[in-house]
Amino acid sequence: MQDQLIIFDTTMRDGEQSPGASMTREDKVRIGKQLEKLKVDVIEAGFAAASPGDFEAIRAVAEAVHDSTICSLARANENDIRRAGEAVAPAKRKRIHTFIATSPIHMKLKLRMSEDQVLEAAVKAVKLAREYTDDVEFSAEDAVRSETDFLCRIFEATIAAGARTINVPDTVGYSIPERWGHLFRTLLERVPNADKAVWSTHCHNDLGMAVANSLAAVMNGARQVECTINGLGERAGNASLEEIVMAVRTRADLFTCRTGIDATQIVPASKLVSTITGYPVQPNKAVVGANAFAHESGIHQDGVLKHRETYEIMRAEDVGWGANRLTLGKLSGRNAFKSRLSELGITLASEEALNAAFAKFKELADKKREIFDEDLQALVSDESVTPEHERFKLVSLVAHSETGEQPFARVVMADAGREFRAEARGAGPVDAAFQAVEDMVHSGTDLLLYSVNNITSGTDSQGEVTVRLAKEGRIVNGMGADTDIVVASVKAYLSALNKMGGKAERMNPQYGDETAAP
Ligand code: KIV
Ligand code: ZN
Repeated sequence: MQDQLIIFDTTMRDGEQSPGASMTREDKVRIGKQLEKLKVDVIEAGFAAASPGDFEAIRAVAEAVHDSTICSLARANENDIRRAGEAVAPAKRKRIHTFIATSPIHMKLKLRMSEDQVLEAAVKAVKLAREYTDDVEFSAEDAVRSETDFLCRIFEATIAAGARTINVPDTVGYSIPERWGHLFRTLLERVPNADKAVWSTHCHNDLGMAVANSLAAVMNGARQVECTINGLGERAGNASLEEIVMAVRTRADLFTCRTGIDATQIVPASKLVSTITGYPVQPNKAVVGANAFAHESGIHQDGVLKHRETYEIMRAEDVGWGANRLTLGKLSGRNAFKSRLSELGITLASEEALNAAFAKFKELADKKREIFDEDLQALVSDESVTPEHERFKLVSLVAHSETGEQPFARVVMADAGREFRAEARGAGPVDAAFQAVEDMVHSGTDLLLYSVNNITSGTDSQGEVTVRLAKEGRIVNGMGADTDIVVASVKAYLSALNKMGGKAERMNPQYGDETAAP
């Protein structure tokens, strides 16, 4: 019998801490359902005390997802733990994940607490969390820079207080595999009640070693890995779920554990997270990058044609490539459209939103012969079918570019139902169109990122545009999709402006005093 390796996905919590990657409640439910299909064991759906919106989103995920455990993060204080407990209450299986920093630098400069005070807060937090659920996880933030003696002390005490999972984070992405593996071996040997808990690793990717470090921990006794889809996360990101799962599976000769993940759901999960957050996946990204299974050189192509295993260690279809299902066409009706959305885990908020999405689908089907699942995902991510953020809407657009002439755009847009129009010239048609929008809205934002990807293959594919805007320290991502990339770009720009105007700021759990109530 092989051990089970628990896959703990934190895309919706640590991943959401990436600039501009914040997700709405509907986004989280869609991702949660896809993670359930992927057969993720634990879904960290957010940080309940961050904002009322995050609390509601966790509750919604807890109601919608039945097969995975739903978890909320909580700092080691009473308010956070109670909020987390209430947020996960509807879940069939629920977990509270409480944490406090244990490194000298964090304790002294951030928390201004002694070791004893930190230990006492951790034990109190775990005991309180146990009043809500038996499944309590404790993390020692910045474990990588903590004293091993203190780690042993706090882990022994929190296990005795009722923590069933002990998570050891490399919060700042500082470790290297040999050291990280050694730390796990030491902790498992030295903590007297180590066998009463599952040991977990949580690695950040600042030095590009998050996956390697996580695997080193697994080789030294960790039986839970915390990771994110596409490696999304603060700064350089977290350990990437798809790489860990496929490494353990592909090198089953080296690992004595297995995951319960349905790998054929990896690529759909990657695409969904990328679409929702506006974080594109680099083409050469392992497992989920567009080129991950493409062979360019003649020698490789020849080898693969003769015998695939000459150059391939995994099969593209095993991780969900090629599941690019042709779903609907021009003649498909509203019911077929609705039922395909529901198979994809998408439920629109109202009949009005469904009608708007169906009208867009018909428009798209007129331009594009074949509609794939990815097209549908992009279509419903388009802000204009989610009425709550609808302040700015594109009404019409004319863009003109001609060799030797300066490109020109005329944009008609609605601001809360009232129409405005403007014309501008720019370096290209997209630049001209953005200038025209700015002439109307004077947003005062800075454009941090503009990127275009094709959603499916072919020149009739929809272009999916991500626009990242910043203003007064706030960063948002907007997405837009259309077969015309200038239109997609303006939609993405307006979607970012809508987000900028809308929601309240989320709080990052790792900034400020963790023990304070928010
Ligand atoms: O990186 C980290 O330390 C965290 C903890 C809150 C687990 O994300
Ligand atoms: Zn983290």
